[in-house]
Amino acid sequence: MGQDEKILAAKQIIDTSSKITVLTGAGISAESGIPTFRDSDGMWNNIKPQDIASPHAFKKDPGLVWEWYDWRRRIINRANPNQGHYALAEIERQKEKFTLITQNIDGLHEIAGSINLVELHGNIWEIRCEKCDKVIKNYEVPLPELPPKCNTCGEITRPNVVWFEEIIPMHMIDQALLSIEESDLMMIIGTSGVVEPAASMGLLAKQSGKQVIEINLEETPNSAIYDISLQGKSGEILPLFYDIAKTYN
Ligand code: OAD
Repeated sequence: MGQDEKILAAKQIIDTSSKITVLTGAGISAESGIPTFRDSDGMWNNIKPQDIASPHAFKKDPGLVWEWYDWRRRIINRANPNQGHYALAEIERQKEKFTLITQNIDGLHEIAGSINLVELHGNIWEIRCEKCDKVIKNYEVPLPELPPKCNTCGEITRPNVVWFEEIIPMHMIDQALLSIEESDLMMIIGTSGVVEPAASMGLLAKQSGKQVIEINLEETPNSAIYDISLQGKSGEILPLFYDIAKTYN
């Protein structure tokens, strides 16, 4: 099948599915100017994830870890959602049931208007105190003090994100798996599909008899098992899929 035929086939599946689960990764925010992790200019080319995004790294040097997150907060603060984020929010409005599972911590899906959102890896605009467990929203860029201190107990805080060697909160996994189970279609967008548990979600959907459509700049290790694998930019492909007529009704 050529790209045009694949896009038509994907549109037909999306149009006829009333319950959709979407999984996104760093690729959906690439067109907003936020670097991915594993592409040729990705963040993990210059730095080992365990050295900066792990409990071990934080214990060793919390200031260094916070400098990296403060730098990422500055990049994300300058970024806006792109047409891919907006298209997903629009598709959500047109469907009976829609869940957006994201591995991204940038918060751009929420800004674009997505509502039923599962942020598997947390959110960079939240700060958590490990001593008193308090989580607060904080949008200061740059942060005035690194590491920031808890305004309740004075302990140093951490970004409320999931690091390597850490476990995603069980209620989020449950919510993600339930939404896949209850959907007719899963879409997997802009993720290399190498970090668990997100990496296995498409496979799980396939094994449960769901249709799976992938959108990525390039093929991924799971492309061959999905029903349709589209190669291209998510910000260009996704807007082809929502029903503009319904938007202006
Ligand atoms: P990766 O950097 O591993 O993969 C990004 C994917 O997006 C690649 O497959 C690209 O081909 C694709 N891509 C790039 N630009 C795109 C575009 N404009 N349109 C569509 N696809 C595009 O990022 P993730 O898969 O999100 O975890 O990485 C998963 C996790 O690994 C992250 O959440 C992070 C990282 O370590 C933690 O920090 C815990």
